[in-house]
Amino acid sequence: MRLFLAIDFEPAAREGLAAVQTALRTATGAGANDLRWTDPGTLHLTLHFLGEVDAAGLERLRTSLGDALPDRPFTLRTGAPGCFPARGPVRVIWLGMAEGGPETTAIHGELAARIRRAGLVVEPRPLTPHLTLARARDPRRSARDLRDRVAACHAPVIASRVDRVVLYESDLSGPRPRYTALATLALAGA
Ligand code: 2AM
Repeated sequence: MRLFLAIDFEPAAREGLAAVQTALRTATGAGANDLRWTDPGTLHLTLHFLGEVDAAGLERLRTSLGDALPDRPFTLRTGAPGCFPARGPVRVIWLGMAEGGPETTAIHGELAARIRRAGLVVEPRPLTPHLTLARARDPRRSARDLRDRVAACHAPVIASRVDRVVLYESDLSGPRPRYTALATLALAGA
């Protein structure tokens, strides 16, 4: 099964994230044929993407992850939207974090150690805490000024309290991704 570890946004914050998407839709002028918007109901901040893991790997991972982290709960506050990759045709429109980035990076590091202890592979690239808001259907056809329009968009700031991390299974076989929570790790004192 396909696994990843993520931070969820609170239900009220999800409504705010939908408003950010609306602001970006207006600012970019992009149509439904250009961008595929992420469902705000399942928006998450990915900490580690583990890819395909077999049943034995999942058991080792569960044991190694445990059910708690030593980090204290904290607040994430969204920042400016941006695009991946940094240049060339836009593939992803994302929302950066103005606050809570260092706390997120610390949790990412602790989780990396636990994933390795389970004998699984951790992606070597450093974490850029972000929320993926939209993906280009065909990056080669993205408007040339899409990047500038995204950068010029004044997105509302959304805050969300973080008190846990979730291990998810991702099922991509249907028309939309389906995410099932397999385990939860509580932050200290949460
Ligand atoms: P992203 O939104 O930050 O791109 C669940 O599929 C999550 O894992 C996605 O939201 C995505 O995070 C991340 N993900 C999916 N496929 C990936 C891949 N091949 N490499 C790295 N991360 C991936």
